[in-house]
Amino acid sequence: MTHEEVSSMGTAAKLVTVTINGKKYGADEDEILLSVAVREKIAIPHLCYEASLDPYGACRLCMVEVVRHGKREMVTSCTTRVTDGLEVVTDGPEVVKHRSILFELYLAEAPKSEVIKAMAARYGVTKTRFLKKIDTTDSLGNKCILCGLCVRACNELMGAGAIGFVNRGPYTVVNTPYFEASRDCLGCGACVKVCPTNAVEMEDQKNERIMKSWSNTRVPLAQCDCCGRYYAPKALAATILARVTPSLKEEIARCCPECRGKLIAKKEILAKTGGAR
Ligand code: SF4
Ligand code: FES
Repeated sequence: MTHEEVSSMGTAAKLVTVTINGKKYGADEDEILLSVAVREKIAIPHLCYEASLDPYGACRLCMVEVVRHGKREMVTSCTTRVTDGLEVVTDGPEVVKHRSILFELYLAEAPKSEVIKAMAARYGVTKTRFLKKIDTTDSLGNKCILCGLCVRACNELMGAGAIGFVNRGPYTVVNTPYFEASRDCLGCGACVKVCPTNAVEMEDQKNERIMKSWSNTRVPLAQCDCCGRYYAPKALAATILARVTPSLKEEIARCCPECRGKLIAKKEILAKTGGAR
């Protein structure tokens, strides 16, 4: 299905044409330029763009050149909305220079991040002239670039506010307040999922989840009454059930999603067959 066909199925978004590296592409007006590029498989490196959060241009890696009203300027593609006739160059000399310096900075900032190393290498940067910041006590394993996505996911998506920026200037890190185990952490793992450098670590051990990066915060896991396995953080399971399945009976609510699915399917079959097997 073409992009035009997909667009025509939803609410009537105005279609525009953008030129990227000399080739024309269709897009919805006001679509984020980076998402157009990703959809069209045009390589633009990016670290801090997460579709579930408002883009905020923190990493600056997604810089491209655009021509607007006859004027050429550098913009972050994750914060730029496309308009009809927009011209974009993703790999001009200015962009390449800017991007290479940023990669060098990130190689120094997060020297243990294989994600950063691999991404930088794809753009020809394998060394850094900047001093590498190795901290053997870093709970994020020297992989954090301070993009803030984990903090935003915790606050804006989960409403937990368990982590934040701690300290200032070159000593800034992300962690729990006062580096103490958090009472607010749900153990949901949203921070792990959004982190672009795989810096955040958590581990499930028997009946609890340990958020290793966040001062070893321990979160109890809910146990499935049907199969006995520990399947999700207790607080999260309760929150989700209260929100999305209030009509489920208690015995179903205490089960893991797999067992719940089986129970619901069984009930549906019984309802359709009137109990006959
Ligand atoms: S831990 Fe990951 S998501 Fe959080 S600030 Fe560091 S790089 Fe960004
Ligand atoms: S992805 Fe655009 S600034 Fe980070």
